[in-house]
Amino acid sequence: MGDISIHAKNIGKRYVIGQRQRQETLREAISNAIRTPVSRIARGMDRGNKKHFFWALKDVSFDINNGEVVGIIGRNGAGKSTLLKILSRITSPTEGYIKLHGRVGSLLEVGTGFHLELTGRENIYLNGSILGMRKRDIENNFDDIVKFADIDSFLDTPVKHYSSGMYVRLAFAVAAHLDSEILLVDEILAVGDAGFQKKCLGKIKDVSGEGRTVLFVSHNMNAIEQLCGSCMMLENGTIKRYGYEVRDMVREYLFGAEDSFKTSEWVNSRDELDNPWFKPLHFYLGDEEGNNAVMPIRNGSDTYLYITGEVKQLDPALTIGYAIYCEDGTLLYWSYQTDGPEENWIKMSKGINVLRSKIPKRLLNEGTYRIECIGRLHSRQWLFEPGRNAPPIFLTIQGGLSDSPHWMSRRPGILAPIMKYN
Ligand SMILES: Nc1ncnc2c1ncn2[C@@H]1O[C@H](COP(=O)(O)OP(=O)(O)O)[C@@H](O)[C@H]1O
Ligand SMILES: [Mg+2]
Repeated sequence: MGDISIHAKNIGKRYVIGQRQRQETLREAISNAIRTPVSRIARGMDRGNKKHFFWALKDVSFDINNGEVVGIIGRNGAGKSTLLKILSRITSPTEGYIKLHGRVGSLLEVGTGFHLELTGRENIYLNGSILGMRKRDIENNFDDIVKFADIDSFLDTPVKHYSSGMYVRLAFAVAAHLDSEILLVDEILAVGDAGFQKKCLGKIKDVSGEGRTVLFVSHNMNAIEQLCGSCMMLENGTIKRYGYEVRDMVREYLFGAEDSFKTSEWVNSRDELDNPWFKPLHFYLGDEEGNNAVMPIRNGSDTYLYITGEVKQLDPALTIGYAIYCEDGTLLYWSYQTDGPEENWIKMSKGINVLRSKIPKRLLNEGTYRIECIGRLHSRQWLFEPGRNAPPIFLTIQGGLSDSPHWMSRRPGILAPIMKYN
């Protein structure tokens, strides 16, 4: 047992549907509002036909070795946060048990762990002492924490006045610097600017280099691949896969199992992702006139992406677009209808809006691409978020890559553009 840091045996967590046991944080409230209630109820029903209960986790067993960095991936509602809450003892399992060897530092969703009335300084001490550290140990780390969080001038301000960015920065800095043997991190990368996210990733890397165990929930697949030595994929409350083939699991997460049906059209038939700003209704690939594209397409002509959505409430911060991934899970790019100068943005109107965007011929290579429809209120909140709950469709390209007699098949490299020479 000496090498084992976390031992979990048959963990189950049962919730009562529609009855939250704890006040939701704002982030949770938002993400819950755009979840699909249908799947949740269905899950409750097929497990023993108890309509009012459902298992957020069921029969989850695993061992994690000391010093491992484990990525935890899975769709929205898969049970990732529930698992971390059980490991950090914020909530207890309905069944099963866990054994932890070492103290746990955790950064769960924004809102847990900090006392809003206390200042940044006081919260650092409070968190340290909760982790069983002596005042002197905390003092030794204090300057590093403040520097990392970049909040010096607000150190003596109650954290309730912090912006969400400052709050997360401090929470992460505290969790990562205090010397707990186990660090749990839940989706921090969804918040904060790109610079800070990079800093966090670097810090997680350092922490793992010190031999501490890290469990890292993220839907940033590039971060999972870069940081994690192993990966656990949760699906409907159970472990679908757990192992060291991180890259392959990321691919499976994004592209589904080898034989799964890859459709190039998504229709919102289950009333998902409802929101007043842009409720996606239909998302598909077609030709210039809007006829459905037949897969696989040849790459000799342009393909168009059509996004139809319903707007009930106009908001100038609305941005709609797509993310495109290649088969190994690499994100190729994000595109938004607001990427150009403002006068070129598509004006949304109340009611049904259709956006069209061209994927130029001879840009992509032969292969299958995952395209997710993404929507957000710029710098405020996600409506449908890549890797998390954004509707996916698939584009398969075969042939038509160039008119040259030399290149008939897939080319080396990720892209296959035809460049000009003169
Ligand atoms: N306190 C709660 N009461 C009832 N249901 C909950 C509660 N917390 C989470 N759930 C539900 O449990 C499921 C798993 O949630 P969660 O662990 O947050 O998933 P993830 O973090 O993978 O998105 C979801 O369907 C969620 O709505
Ligand atoms: Mg979660």
